Amino acid sequence: MEIKKIGIVGAGTMGHGIAQVAASSGFEVILQDISQEQLNRALKSMEKSLDKLIEKGKISEAKETILGRLKMTTDVTALKEANFIIEAVFENLEVKKQVLQTLDSFLPSEVIITSNTSSISITKLAAFTTRADRFMGMHFMNPVPLMTLVELIKGLQTSSETFTIVKGLAEKMGKVPVEANDFPGFISNRILMPMINEAIFALMEGVGTVEAIDTVMKLGMNHPMGPLALADLIGLDVCLNIMEVLYEGFGDPKYRPCPLLRKMVEAGYLGRKSGRGFYNYS
Ligand code: CAA
Repeated sequence: MEIKKIGIVGAGTMGHGIAQVAASSGFEVILQDISQEQLNRALKSMEKSLDKLIEKGKISEAKETILGRLKMTTDVTALKEANFIIEAVFENLEVKKQVLQTLDSFLPSEVIITSNTSSISITKLAAFTTRADRFMGMHFMNPVPLMTLVELIKGLQTSSETFTIVKGLAEKMGKVPVEANDFPGFISNRILMPMINEAIFALMEGVGTVEAIDTVMKLGMNHPMGPLALADLIGLDVCLNIMEVLYEGFGDPKYRPCPLLRKMVEAGYLGRKSGRGFYNYS
C-alpha cells in the first residue's frame, strides 16, 4: 500500500506540527479542524517554523513548494481523498470517540487510521472503529519539526501489516520509530509525566522556586529545559489529562495529579498557549 495523501484531524500544536513535517517530507496533506481560526493560527505557526528551518539550512525546498502540498479545511468529509489518517484532536476520550466514529463511517475500509494520543488506550480507541486491525497509535513529540521520536503503539487487534506500513511512514517522515506496548502513558508519558508532576509537588511544598527547580534539572541533569517550562510547552491541561489517565489506568496513588496542577488548570493557566503557566508569556 502506497501512502500518497495523509489526512490529519486537528490543527492544534501537534496536528499542525505533524502536517508540516508530512508536507516537508513530500506527502500531500489535508489538515482538517472544525475551527477556521485554529487553521489560520496553524498556518502562521507552520510558516514561522519553516522560515526558521529554511534559514538554518535544515530544509532546502522553498516554503511555497512545501505549503503547496497542504490543503486546509473545516470539512471533515474532505478527508475522503486521503488514504492514511492521523487523528490529533484534543486529548479527551469523548472527543476522540466522536471523531473516530465519524471518520470510520465514511473512509474506505482499507484506510489505516492512527491516533496521536499521548496516553489513552489504543485498544479502547480502536473499538470506536470497525477496523481495529488497521488502527494504531502514532505518538509524535512536541515540537514535532524538531523532535525525532515517534512512539508506535499496537492495540490488541492491530495487524503486523499495519505496523509495518506505519513504521515505514514514520521513517519517511524522517523520524525514529520506537515500539511501545499499549499501557497507560506508553513509555514516554509513563516516565515524563510523573517527573513533571513531582516537580509541581516540589514547587507546591516549597522545596524550591520555579527557577530553582528548572535550573536543577537543566544544569544538574542536562535536560534541555526544566520540567516546569516543559509543562508550559506541553500545556498544563494536557499534563493533567495524562496524569488522570495514569492514575485511573493503574489505580496507584503514586500517579495522583498534584493539587497545584489542578488549580492552575482551573484558573486557566495552561502554559504558553494561554500566555501564563509557571512562567509568563505575555
Ligand atoms: N520549528 C522550528 N524551529 C523551532 C521550533 C519549531 N517548532 N521551536 C523552536 N525552534 C527553534 C527556536 O526558534 C530556536 O532557534 P534560534 O536558535 O535560531 O533562536 C531553536 O529552535 C532553539 O530553541 P530555543 O532557543 O527556544 O530553546 P532550546 O535550545 O531549548 O530548544 C527545544 C528548544 C528543541 C524545544 C528544546 O528545549 C527541547 O528539546 N526541549 C524538550 C522538548 C521535549 O521534551 N519535548 C517532548 C515533550 S512531551 C511530548 O511532546 C509528548 C506528550 O505526549 C506530552
